[in-house]
Formats: sequence, structure tokens, C-alpha cells
Amino acid sequence: MARISSTLTKNPLSTAKVDALVVGVGSSAGKLVLAPGADDVDKAFKKRLLGALTALGATGKAGEVTKVATLGATAAPTLVAVGLGERPAKGDRWSAETLRRAIGAAARQLDGSRRIATSLALANGDDSAADVSAVVEGAVLGGYRFGRYRSTTKPSVESVAVVVGNPRDKAVKAAYDRGRVVADAVVLCRDLVNTAPADLYPALLAQAAVDACTAVGLKVEVLDEKALRKGGFGGVLGVGQGSTHPPRVARITYSSGRGAKARVHLVGKGITFDSGGLALKPAQSMEWMKSDMGGAAAVLSTMTAIGALQPDVDIVAWIACAENMPSGTAIRPSDVLTIKGGKTVEVLNPDAEGRLVMADCIAAAGEEKPDYIVDVATLTGAQLVALGSRVYGVMANDDELRDSIVAAAGVAGEQGWPMPLPAELRKSLESDVADIANIGDRNGGMLTAGLFLQEFVPDGVKWAHLDVAGPAFNNGEPHGYTPKGGTGVPIRTLVEWLTSLGE
Ligand code: BES
Ligand code: MN
Ligand code: ZN
Repeated sequence: MARISSTLTKNPLSTAKVDALVVGVGSSAGKLVLAPGADDVDKAFKKRLLGALTALGATGKAGEVTKVATLGATAAPTLVAVGLGERPAKGDRWSAETLRRAIGAAARQLDGSRRIATSLALANGDDSAADVSAVVEGAVLGGYRFGRYRSTTKPSVESVAVVVGNPRDKAVKAAYDRGRVVADAVVLCRDLVNTAPADLYPALLAQAAVDACTAVGLKVEVLDEKALRKGGFGGVLGVGQGSTHPPRVARITYSSGRGAKARVHLVGKGITFDSGGLALKPAQSMEWMKSDMGGAAAVLSTMTAIGALQPDVDIVAWIACAENMPSGTAIRPSDVLTIKGGKTVEVLNPDAEGRLVMADCIAAAGEEKPDYIVDVATLTGAQLVALGSRVYGVMANDDELRDSIVAAAGVAGEQGWPMPLPAELRKSLESDVADIANIGDRNGGMLTAGLFLQEFVPDGVKWAHLDVAGPAFNNGEPHGYTPKGGTGVPIRTLVEWLTSLGE
């Protein structure tokens, strides 16, 4: 996919030779106000910019996009004012996420403008690191298009110039680079999630991990069916046995090469298509099940960012790839699988397949006794019922770990929310024949799934589980920097959490 290029500049917007300028506006006491950073444009408009925008109906409310022709006042032919909402009180700031969404909404709706320049990183009167990162991320992510299967594509944003006070400033440059790295990781994830499942079966998802991660210097090992059998990955093999495309597990290693501050294992659910297996899903719910590898895609994309950012943490990522299909060889309700490490699972419902592949890889991670295991999975429809389509659930066997991940989400501009693992739900997972069953109480289904996974975490290892069933894929209307389809959630949380562990 064509990548959006970006640059840092200190040249004022009015002189930028681009197709469109993007400036911030807000509201204060019911009136439109111009955010800092665009004074030169206002001057070029003979101080009539706000008047012109007001006449066009601009109010400054968050996400509102107003376009105006510059008629030669600036080098660029078009100016776009994007709303930031109520102007913060003195001493307060517009949040980085507000800026990210604003530039994202502008970039997304700027069909026809290939080159844009923006003053939004200056909207708080300075060029703080958080704002610079947010504006690069928002521009690249809002301008994202998935064109792989289109024979014709509409023009869209191809380059963005971010105006800052001093592009040579070390902190500004580092913030820009980090935003760029994170945005590229999210773009990779979105591309993988949006790819048709026929073009991304398990071996190809594992290969995508190899390609993307070796390119940034990480080590990747792929376990095929033979290696999975030898390794005792009964969950992955069981889920994959109904498909003509055999399962895979990719193991990605990043070593900081310095005295690492922590050892972390990540695990991602990579069901390349979830038909439900013999518990076949209705057609409507199957429509978006190409996104059931969203956890795996987010984890492997996070590793590409880690390879570039080089935090002082040692990280291993497990990408659990299988296709869940109904067939004569598919796993049957009441079949029993042996998960890595020896625990047995009665598969009462073959549509609860994610926890089976995750169990193997959590157990595999646990054998290496890391400090932390963090798993990411589009695990349950119950997540959507509980938290809706944009907020993912965070469960953990350690409150501090859970809260640190929720906090990292907040810093990164994603939405994670703490969820409990109530011990009393565990008994609903009891099996008549095996150590555990793969389904339990339907009420609190996200939590029972979490409790199931917890069974495979060894004592002494801190573990968190992120259920991103809804947030990984936008089934609704585009908003801010989020288009329809793959979103890249929770990459930004993971990068934030992992890099702060290394500080
Ligand atoms: N992949 C689904 C969960 C899902 C649902 C993800 C909707 C994204 C959107 C998962 O494998 C699944 O089918 N879960 C079942 C579990 C049930 C059978 C216990 C579910 O949630 O219905
Ligand atoms: Mn399923
Ligand atoms: Zn699934």
C-alpha cells in the first residue's frame, strides 16, 4: 500500500506549496477562535479568516471540517479549518487525542488534496512532544486508504508537512520519529486485518510476521504443523484441523542487548477466518470475521515499532495462526484437546476457538517464566455487549499491571477499561470429562473467557488479557483518524506500555 510521506518544517503555513492547509479552530463563549500556529495565515487573509469561516457555518466544535478557497492569499489553494472544541481555560491544553482526531478527520475528508501542511502541532502554543507525535499519527492514520482490491482509487493525502517551532530540536525530532513509527505499525496492522482471508491464511500471516519483523532486525521462527505437534500445541492444531490451510505459530524475539528492565511475552490471536467451525456462525456475524486475527496483527505490528524504538525490555511475541472452518476433519463439540503443558479441554463449542489457540501460546510463554505475559485477542462477542465497539476490556491477575495498561491506553489515545475476573464464574467452566470446558456462563462471557485463559498462566507470572473484539475492527462509520475496517487497536497502548517499562 502507498505510504503517506511526512516531514517536519518551521516554514509558516502561508508560504507552504501544498494543496491544502489544515489549521485548528475552537469555540470560546460561543464564538469561533483560531488556535495558535496559524497567525500568518490569518494575516494573509487580512485578519478576515474567522469571519470567512463563520460565514461558512464553522462553530469550532470537535471534528467539524470547514473548507475555504484561499483565492491567492496563501500559496496553497485551499484552507481547511478543523474544530477542536471548547478552548481550554488558561493553563489547560487541548488533549493530544483531540489534536490527533482533528488532523485525522481533516486528512480523511481531504479527498483531492494530495499534499497537506498543518499547524495543529502548535495549537497549544508550543510544540510539545505529545502533540507532535499525535499530529503525525493522526495525519497518517486519517489519510489511510486500503486500496488492494480496488481497480480505481480516488486521490487521497500523500504527504503531510507538520509545522513546529524548531524542527531541529532533539525532543521535537524524537517525538516526530516516534509518531511516525507508531503510525506505520498501525498502517501495517490495518492492511493485514483488511486483507481478504483467502489472501491471508495462517502460513501467510506467519510469513507477514517474518517479513515485517526481520526487516527491523528481529528474529522470527515459524512453527509448522510438524513442529506444533512436536511442541504439544494441541489447541492450535485442534482449531486448525478443519481447514485446508494448516495452522502456524510465529515466535518473534526482540532483545534489547542491554540490561533489560523486564522480560515480557506478548500473545496474539490470529484466527485468519472464524466461521465458527461446526458451530457455524450466521452469515451476518461471519461478515467481519476476517478481523479475528486483529490481536495477532496488532502484536506483530507492535514488534515492528519495538524494533525501531529499541526500548530496554526483552520481548517475545507469539502469533497463534489458524483458520476455524467446518469440514469432515473439523473439531467436534465434545472432542477433547490437550493444551501445551498437559491440561485437557473439552470443546463444547468450536466457535470458542480463540481461547484454545491462546491457551497453547500462553502456556508456551509461561514455560519461559517471563515477568509479564500480555495477550491480545478478538475473543468474545460479550466484550461488545459489555463495553461497546470502541472500548476494550483489560483483565489481569495483578491489579497494578491491569491499571498500568489502562493508563497507557489513556496516554496513547486509546480506550481500555479495567474488568474483573470473578472467581465464582470459574465453576461454570467445569467439564464432565476433562480438566476444563471451553465455554462457561454466557452472562459475563468476556470474563469467563478471561478466567479460561488464566488457567494456563503459571504461578508467579503477571498476566493481562486484552479483549479487543469490537475495537480492533470498525464496523460502523469512520470517525476521527479511524476509517472503516481494521483500526490498529491496541498497538498504541502496547507501544506506550512497553516503552515506559523500559524507562
Ligand atoms: N471471534 C469471536 C468473537 C468475536 C465476536 C469477535 C464478534 C469480534 C466480533 C469468537 O471466536 C467467538 O466466536 N466467541 C463466541 C464465544 C462463545 C461461543 C462462548 C462468542 O462470543 O459468541
Ligand atoms: Mn469463534
Ligand atoms: Zn474467534
